[in-house]
Amino acid sequence: MPNPDSVPSTPGKFKVEKYRLRWHSSPLAKLTFCSFIFTGLIVVFLFRSSPTNGMPSSTSQFDSSRRSLRTFSVREPAWEKRVRSSVKVRAHNGMTVLVTGAAGFVGTHVSAALKRRGDGVLGFDNFNDYYDPSLKRARQSLLERSGVFIVEGDINDKHLLTKLFEIVSFTHVMHLAAQAGVRYAMQNPSSYVHSNIAGFVSLLEVCKSANPQPSIVWASSSSVYGLNTKVPFSENDRTDQPASLYAATKKAGEEIAHIYNHIYGLSLTALRFFTVYGPWGRPDMAYFFFTRDILKGKSIPIFESQKLGTVARDFTYIDDIVKGCLSALDTAGKSTGINGKKTGKAPLRVFNLGNTFPVKVSDLVCILERILKVKAKTMVMKLPRNGDVEYTNANISLAERELGYKPTTDLQAGLKKFVKWYLSYYKTGKRGAE
Ligand SMILES: NC(=O)c1ccc[n+]([C@@H]2O[C@H](COP(=O)([O-])OP(=O)(O)OC[C@H]3O[C@@H](n4cnc5c(N)ncnc54)[C@H](O)[C@@H]3O)[C@@H](O)[C@H]2O)c1
Repeated sequence: MPNPDSVPSTPGKFKVEKYRLRWHSSPLAKLTFCSFIFTGLIVVFLFRSSPTNGMPSSTSQFDSSRRSLRTFSVREPAWEKRVRSSVKVRAHNGMTVLVTGAAGFVGTHVSAALKRRGDGVLGFDNFNDYYDPSLKRARQSLLERSGVFIVEGDINDKHLLTKLFEIVSFTHVMHLAAQAGVRYAMQNPSSYVHSNIAGFVSLLEVCKSANPQPSIVWASSSSVYGLNTKVPFSENDRTDQPASLYAATKKAGEEIAHIYNHIYGLSLTALRFFTVYGPWGRPDMAYFFFTRDILKGKSIPIFESQKLGTVARDFTYIDDIVKGCLSALDTAGKSTGINGKKTGKAPLRVFNLGNTFPVKVSDLVCILERILKVKAKTMVMKLPRNGDVEYTNANISLAERELGYKPTTDLQAGLKKFVKWYLSYYKTGKRGAE
């Protein structure tokens, strides 16, 4: 796997820069470049003067709608059929849910669980290369086998989202698409703004104009508690001291949600997930790359905390998170906007979804050693100032009360399931465990 820190989350961004540098380096390249521009101008001229293109005239609208709609005209009947078939509801009173980030770790599990109980589900994902996209493709195949289709697109593409809302009357949106990861924000800050702020606003704009408006449940993060020292973290604790840009974009998302609820009557529920782990997980997370590195005999870094010995996390097993997500969808009250205008008060909720038993990272390593039957090589080092916090611990009493949320999997049991999946997924050597 390429170093996740060296690739952009929005594919193409860095490549453009490199490309430009190379083009300036030789006369032959310059000549080729000029002919390329000249041919391009002729093509653009012919296309714009074509009487059949029938697109809106403003430049930005023209560009993005052409991109989406041209793709539709190529694949329209088959593509639309797949969209419709994916959202078929089988359960009495089932929901029709658009799941963004469906090729991601949490998105795959949530989509599969919704489908299993008879809800209609359509996935949406841009398959970016923040981490090995082949893992996202494998999750996509898994979902396809259970009848969930993932539309490939970016949440910033309002035309594509609007088209989907024209085809399907979504009752709910489960919004999980985001640029995740705390440390990567130091390498590629704009990817966080692109997906977590601009992308969220783009999605909310489409939802607010939809008739009927869907109810939205979306992933915030425990990272919004930042440097808060009052433990366990409760929903009313201060969240104005983020320790990373990732946390700041999630906090911004919570404020943005407030606006769309207040002005447009969208029903919005934010779920603050606490370190989610499990099968089909994210390779950039410690439990995942510790497993890989322990098996490879590579040494792993364990960060020291001033107070605790080593840093500690409230690790939460994926099945518990999925139950919390489904119950947040089930209890989300309706949005009240009609034609983009609020007609009454709509719910605006925030819940912690954690496990409530923080575990020191050194203990996580001991559990992995026992399950893998391999002694880890460790290097204990000071926690660098890279966005990570020393300690997370959820107070889940609000979610218990209102969602009936009750996590049931402890770290030992959850890691056993993760390792079982990991060994079977990477066993043949066909898939490199990077
Ligand atoms: N896993 C955790 O421990 C954890 C903790 C707190 C919060 N969260 C949040 O939960 C959500 C799901 O996390 P995950 O662990 O499944 O991460 P993930 O990276 O596996 O999934 C996110 C998915 O969103 C897609 N995506 C990103 N930007 C997009 C865009 N602009 N348009 C369309 N698709 C886009 C990615 O391709 C990816 O498949 C995220 O919002 C994340 O911030 C996760």
